[in-house]
Amino acid sequence: MSFGAFRALNDVSLDVGHGEIRAIIGPNGAGKTTFVNIVSGIFKPTSGRVTLEGRDITTLSPQRRARLGLARTFQITSLFKGMTVSEHLQLAVRDADADGETRRELLEQMGLATFADREVDTLSHGDQRILEMAMAMVLKPKFLLLDEPTAGMSIAETDRMIRLIIERLRGRIGVIIIEHDMNVVTQTSDKVTVLAAGAVAASGLPQDVLRDPHVKEIYLGSAANH
Ligand SMILES: Nc1ncnc2c1ncn2[C@@H]1O[C@H](COP(=O)(O)OP(=O)(O)O)[C@@H](O)[C@H]1O
Ligand SMILES: [Mg+2]
Repeated sequence: MSFGAFRALNDVSLDVGHGEIRAIIGPNGAGKTTFVNIVSGIFKPTSGRVTLEGRDITTLSPQRRARLGLARTFQITSLFKGMTVSEHLQLAVRDADADGETRRELLEQMGLATFADREVDTLSHGDQRILEMAMAMVLKPKFLLLDEPTAGMSIAETDRMIRLIIERLRGRIGVIIIEHDMNVVTQTSDKVTVLAAGAVAASGLPQDVLRDPHVKEIYLGSAANH
């Protein structure tokens, strides 16, 4: 992926299996969000392909991809002030065929049932982010992209998100999770891919990748630059 003369991603290839949780980690500016934007259809890659269950979806809009079962959450919270929790879920299912039963169930599973009629801006930051995840899940995706789902969360909220990922997603659907919190990475992911300066620096089991001296160097180098 190039932005003008700047190459944001170079020859990055990732294959995520059914039910697999793949973490993408890497310093700021590594290209993580750009990658997720390409997979979800916000950006068209300068070259390369995106496939879902073998089907080439490179030229499909984000909406078409969502209907094929590819959902995402955003790094920045994207809720509408003044609208309630259940109105948000209604918005999310507008084009899909999930019924009220499913929505009620989902709110209960996500621990949001008592907030159904509350306006979203009265929710804690953690509950807002969990609602965003519920909005993505109401479409019953086959694949879910999570861009820093625990950003800005307290330790307790982060633990709740970890439990939701393990209990609701792991082994059920494919997931790519961009995450800075290594505790979240080790607890939730099956495999980790490290992006640095737009390229894959390492890929493998969390315990191997996080112990890799080259990966530690990447993080130390980036800390020194900030
Ligand atoms: N729309 C864009 N136009 C130009 N440059 C961009 C755009 N989006 C991202 N970039 C650049 O691409 C690089 C990777 O950004 P990003 O994917 O947001 O990194 P990360 O999510 O890993 O922090 C950065 O240098 C960023 O400035
Ligand atoms: Mg990012």
